[in-house]
Amino acid sequence: MTRYILGIETSCDDTSAAVVDDTLRVRAVQTTSQTNLHALFGGVIPELAARNHIAWIFPVIDTALKKSGVASADLSAVAVTNYPGLLGSLLVGVGAAKGLSLGLKKPLIAVNHLEAHIHSAFLDRAERPTAPYLALVVSGGHTTLMEMAEEGTTVLAETMDDAAGEAYDKIAKIAKLPYPGGPAIDKIAQTGDPSRYDLPHLMRSGKYKDTLAFSFSGIKSAVKRILEEEGDTVALADLMACFQSRVVELIERRLTAAWEQKPYTALVVAGGVAANSAVRTMAQSFTERRGVPLYLPQLKYCQDNGAMVAAAAFPRLDRGDFSPLDFDVTATCRPQK
Ligand code: KG4
Ligand code: ZN
Repeated sequence: MTRYILGIETSCDDTSAAVVDDTLRVRAVQTTSQTNLHALFGGVIPELAARNHIAWIFPVIDTALKKSGVASADLSAVAVTNYPGLLGSLLVGVGAAKGLSLGLKKPLIAVNHLEAHIHSAFLDRAERPTAPYLALVVSGGHTTLMEMAEEGTTVLAETMDDAAGEAYDKIAKIAKLPYPGGPAIDKIAQTGDPSRYDLPHLMRSGKYKDTLAFSFSGIKSAVKRILEEEGDTVALADLMACFQSRVVELIERRLTAAWEQKPYTALVVAGGVAANSAVRTMAQSFTERRGVPLYLPQLKYCQDNGAMVAAAAFPRLDRGDFSPLDFDVTATCRPQK
């Protein structure tokens, strides 16, 4: 009999629920994005995000269930993101999931948001990577490189300051481009000449040169300086093209270094920034050159969504590894097992 999981995601500013079956086919996904609201402030306001989740959470869950055609009695489990994220936002999804689990008498599965992003790459796809594979989550909150092995997940590297998406958002704000900055910069960068500006190459020298770590605050300052110096005369498309090429260059250098340490069976790149055209092209050619499969989420699953939460919960359902009703939320990543 087909098993279904209801996945709930409220870790930041998207209220989302989805029903996914055990082949990871998405039966329905419903997301209410608060982007336009937070755009008024140029960034996510945590308390506003939490309040809006409260308003939307049950309509979103109801709609996802109705669209899926799956009766709530036929669900095998309720899954929800419980870390990392904004505490107020997480609590809304977790409260709803606990209530549903109690009311429907269904097991509860608390999911790590980064693992959920990784599983977004397997949605609506027939095959899965075999361990050990390399996974990079690049989003507004994280830039995390992970080894996914049979024995568990090892974090190989993280950003030392801003996340990649955060750098996009902050630079867009300084450049007066629309919020969120990632899609806006991606679009304008495609029309620009990346060689016109001489921005620094990220971490190509210095003490972190030979590590796997990421840092994006230096390039943000360099772009800011040029924008201040050149004012209205700045060639914005060229500057953004150069910024984007430096970001992608660092990501590629880190993937290359990780691959030199160990040849992996596959690469997963996920998270909001996995929607970036240059990141996708680089990941494609990176894996083609190595003859390994690339798992990139479809564009519609790069952004936070409930389907990826349900997908990440299936291995736990298979193992009968459920969460107790009193599990907590955490803002940051706990140490990985
Ligand atoms: O995964 P996500 O929806 O939320 C977090 O968990 O952070 O990622 C949102 C981030 C934002 O910073 C946004 O600017 C960025 O993903 N983003 C992009 C693109 N589309 C979204 N960054 C670069 N290029 C894009 N095309
Ligand atoms: Zn996310």
